[in-house]
Amino acid sequence: MPAAPGHVALSSPLLGGNEWRYVKECLDTGWVSSAGPFVDRFERAIADRLGGHAVAVSTGTAALHLALLVAGVEPDDEVLMPALTFIAPANAVRYVGAWPVFFDVDHEYWQLDPQRLADFMSRECDWRDGRLTNRRTGRRIRAVLPVDLLGHPCDLDAILDLAHSREISVIEDATEALGAQYKQRPVGSRADIACLSFNGNKIITSGGGGMIVTGRDDWAARARYLSTQAKDDPTEYVHGAVGYNYRLTNLQAALGVAQLELLDKYVEIKRLHARAYAEGLAGAPGITPMREAPWAVSTFWLYTVLIDADRRGLSSRAILRRLGERGIQSRPLWEPLNRSAAMAGCQPVETPVADRIAASALSLPSSVNLTPAEQSRVIEAVAS
Ligand SMILES: Cc1ncc(COP(=O)(O)O)c(C=O)c1O
Repeated sequence: MPAAPGHVALSSPLLGGNEWRYVKECLDTGWVSSAGPFVDRFERAIADRLGGHAVAVSTGTAALHLALLVAGVEPDDEVLMPALTFIAPANAVRYVGAWPVFFDVDHEYWQLDPQRLADFMSRECDWRDGRLTNRRTGRRIRAVLPVDLLGHPCDLDAILDLAHSREISVIEDATEALGAQYKQRPVGSRADIACLSFNGNKIITSGGGGMIVTGRDDWAARARYLSTQAKDDPTEYVHGAVGYNYRLTNLQAALGVAQLELLDKYVEIKRLHARAYAEGLAGAPGITPMREAPWAVSTFWLYTVLIDADRRGLSSRAILRRLGERGIQSRPLWEPLNRSAAMAGCQPVETPVADRIAASALSLPSSVNLTPAEQSRVIEAVAS
């Protein structure tokens, strides 16, 4: 939501380019629904950036759901993923009747820890009938689902090596990291299949929307088919599978195309905000800013700090409340999903790093249009 005057929002959209013009074009031509030139343009523009095929869908969650289906994840399979993330990717795993197995994150960059994955695969799994099997549950492991948390890329090479050597797919949740780079290549371009989101709090928005990106022709075709009610005949109502109504509308795609034209500029601005936060909070005791790996270019989607309650004398939640009293919106990170009632029945795991981060993290205002004066207000309020 746009912020009320005097309030500093956590992450509000900036419609700073051709949005009005492109949306007006939809209205003038009557192409407002789930087909139209902007849907094609949006898909082409994403495919030009990331390579492979792009299939536009209604949300990032829908993208994840379809990605799991086309990657062959079936009921009672398992999908390995980080415990620390927004819940959407785990929900998508449950939509297909599969089970997430949660892993702790690394303490430096807060991403899915490949070392823990490797340990699990070698110590707790067997190779049975040509499939990697979790010894404890007896279930087949079908995919790894890393999330590029808060706009910072996960260590994808290590994850791809581990997964591919065991014939399992990598479905990357890049919803928070469009515009980021991993070893000088765009995030979303290297996994077997990647998912993007364009909801209102993302770095660019189409109002609501998502995208599937994959180099595999058959997976892209299947995702497109499933996203349009699995229609087998252009005229007759003949359906070869249970499909979904997941297509993006032309109106949303028009917004998306306009926003995508601004992405590189927006990433640059967010990186400047991140630098200003890091410098402004550098001397403040008990505040640890988020970091960037040497192989990464992060978008710093939500700039997040860890608050040491003992050294600061206030917990992250107390600071959140105090910032709120001063008209500054901030937000904690997510409850680690192994602790979520929504994920009851998943294999119990210990996640000390995710627990510590979740208890102490605070995301600070990170909108592209955050002004220097607003950012100074936030820094002063957090540091004081
Ligand atoms: C990591 C992650 N995955 C998936 C989603 C879901 O995207 P959407 O809201 O477009 O369904 C989000 C954000 O909303 C997210 O942060």
